[in-house]
Order: sequence, then C-alpha cells, then structure tokens
Amino acid sequence: MLALRRAPRHARPAHHQTRHIADRAPFQPGDHVLLRPINGRSTAPRLTPPLHPAHRLDTHKGTIPHTDILGTRVRDVVRTTKTRAGGANAIDYRVHDVKLEEYVRLTKRLVTPLYPQDAQLIVGLLDLHPEPPAWGQKQEDEPSEPKLEILEAGTGHGALTLFLSRAIHAANTPAPPSHAEDEASTAATAAWKRTRRAILHTIELSPRYAAHAQHIVRGFRHAQYAHNVDFHVGDVSAWTRAALSVRQNQPFLSHAFLDLAGAEAHLGTVARALRVDGTLVLFNPSITQILAAVEKVKVEALPLELERVVELGVNGGSGGREWDVRAVKPRAAVKRAGTSAAASGVEAVESESESESESESETESESETESENVAIDDDTPPPPPAPPRKQPPQLRAPRPPTTTGKWSAVPK
Ligand SMILES: C[S@@+](CC[C@H](N)C(=O)[O-])C[C@H]1O[C@@H](n2cnc3c(N)ncnc32)[C@H](O)[C@@H]1O
Repeated sequence: MLALRRAPRHARPAHHQTRHIADRAPFQPGDHVLLRPINGRSTAPRLTPPLHPAHRLDTHKGTIPHTDILGTRVRDVVRTTKTRAGGANAIDYRVHDVKLEEYVRLTKRLVTPLYPQDAQLIVGLLDLHPEPPAWGQKQEDEPSEPKLEILEAGTGHGALTLFLSRAIHAANTPAPPSHAEDEASTAATAAWKRTRRAILHTIELSPRYAAHAQHIVRGFRHAQYAHNVDFHVGDVSAWTRAALSVRQNQPFLSHAFLDLAGAEAHLGTVARALRVDGTLVLFNPSITQILAAVEKVKVEALPLELERVVELGVNGGSGGREWDVRAVKPRAAVKRAGTSAAASGVEAVESESESESESESETESESETESENVAIDDDTPPPPPAPPRKQPPQLRAPRPPTTTGKWSAVPK
C-alpha cells in the first residue's frame, strides 16, 4: 500500500497562500510536532516536547528554537542551525502533526506498550459504535440509559488507553475547559463527569506507571481524549470487587480488556462485572496462556463463551490468523478415569480456511463431538517422545506470536 500526501510547493513559504485541510491551524504553544528529515531516511523522525517559546530542540545536526516551529503550518519546513561547536551540517525537517500511533511509539516509555496495529485490532474486536447524546437531550442531563463502561488493565504505557478513549470519544459532550486547578474548575469537571455516556476505567498496579500513563494520555492533542478516562491505581480484581460493591453487585461493564501477567487469575471477578453480551478480551504473549484461560473458564464454569482466538503479528506485522481452541479429554486421563470421567483439557489448532471448513462441515462437526468425548478402545501404549530436532543457529530468539482471545458474557 502506498500513501501520499499533498505538501506545499516551496520549502519556506513567506505567506501561507496554500490551502490546508480546514482544521489545521498553525502550530501553537503546547503542541507536539513530528519532524521528519526531508532528505535521507537515515535520520530518524523527532517528536518534539510540547512547544514553548523559550525552549529549543537539540539534534545531532544542530538546534531548532521552538519559536521557529511556532506559527508554522503542517508540512512547512524548518532548518536546524549549527551549534557553536560546528561540525554538523544543517538539516531540513518537514513539520507534521503527530498521529496517535507515532505518538504512542515515540513517547518515553517505562513499560512496553501494545503495538498500534494490535491496539487497532483489539478496538475492532469490541465493535464500538458510540452515539452522541440524543436530539433534544440537554448537555447537563445525566444519561437515562446505562453508560458504556469499559475496563482496561493494566494501563501500562497508556497506549491502548488512548486508542480506546478515541473510539468512545463521540459519546461524550465536550469537557469544560480546565485551565487552572481551582475549585470552580474542579467542580465543573466533576459535574461534567457525571454526564458522561462512555467511560474507560483503566487500572494499573504500579503508581509510577499509572502516573506516567496519565501524563502520556494528557499529552496527546492537548488532552483531547483524557476526559473519557478514569485512572485507578491498584489491582484489577480488587478494583472490580469494590466497583461491584458500590453498585449493589449489579454487572456494569460493557467490555473488559486484560493485558497483564497471570490474567486468568482475574477472570472470575471480571466476568461477574460484565453485562450479558459484554466482551472480555485477553491479550497474551502466547497461545499457551490463552489455553490456561480457556481451561479456567471451563473448570470454574464462568458465564463466558469463547468467540475467537486471533494471533497478532510478530514485530508489528498485521497477524490476524485465527485459532480453533476447544475442550478435549486427554487420552491418558480418559483412560485412567473411564470414558464418562470429567477429566478435561483444551487444545488449539490453526483454523482451516473458510472454504475448507464449509466443504468439510460434516467432518468438522464429527470431530467436534470427538474432541468432547474422546473414547479410547485400543491398548497401544503412547509413542515415545520424539528426540529434539536440531535447530539451525539463530541470531535472535524468535518472538512467539502474541495472541488475543475474545469471550462474550452469557446469562448464568
Ligand atoms: C504489558 S503492560 C500493559 C501495556 C498496555 N496495554 C499498553 O498498551 O500500554 C502490563 C501492565 O499491567 C500491570 N499489572 C500487572 N498486574 C496487574 C494487576 N493485578 N492489576 C493491574 N495492573 C497490573 C503492570 O504493572 C504493567 O504496567
């Protein structure tokens, strides 16, 4: 795929006679700007800190005072000035708006965020369709129907937080301006928060990561997406139990997303907070952990139905391979306990392509029954384990593809 964009004809237009996309005003203090070198892809793009008239950006090819960027418009060009030490050749950068995925990738991180491609896929799995307030509904009215409440844990870098908040943004009316942390401003924000029709609760165990993520979310486009989010510090199960208790144990979540080690330990509590047909998505570094979650749902009879298991891309690739995960009774266990035993397990196989599964639908349903009711009628001992295969030398250990599992809450 190739993406091209219109750029101004001259590097430094003295007067801005060119016509820009309507909502792009000149850059102003507080904006983050992406600077892309015009010549030479060997120089990495730079994300500026929030622009400030008294600050400057130091690069290894000279400096750029922020005042050179303030007042420019998207796709204009700025040039570095040589430092007194000299040596470095000046370089021209084109000035860009920073896109969400670039912002997430280029901001200082304390914890590894989701790849933007994975975040997009996960937001897609939730199939969100936020609606603005109904015609005639006053801005200050509290919503009459249940709010769209989403749980995310852990917050980590705040990457998925931003993608999710952008996806629900249309449901909420504009937040009041909060230029100062004064009492009136705090009260106005608190009153507005009660009118929100969509809320993202994001929970993070580490206070340090939580504070950093909050800073990251607020830093994007002058905090455009910060007000849909409630940040919480603590353990996700503890938070969910407390939230259920103030709501008389009534389920309140439309969706939940877990990206943390040992996520299956939180399934029971989170499932109790999900409304019927709510979605639970688990992001795991490997299919093995998805299997552990499937096993847990089965053993504890949690009111969740597995819908999809999708492999994500390696190193930012697009992924998307589907896995077929199903309950099986392992042969050895069945043999020990007899065919009616409740011994159970789960296995995962790559899904067949759609056309294949259509043409073999009969076989597939047979094999499904077989998976649930494996009966052993021969006494052949299991074959010995195969000797380990010699691996070719590798420069880097391969990263197993990450996987995401999607369940839907069902009535108990
Ligand atoms: C891989 S990071 C999440 C990255 C995040 N999805 C993003 O896109 O930026 C996992 C986070 O979960 C947090 N965490 C671990 N256990 C937790 C728990 N029980 N409750 C809440 N957060 C937890 C960790 O501190 C860590 O920051």
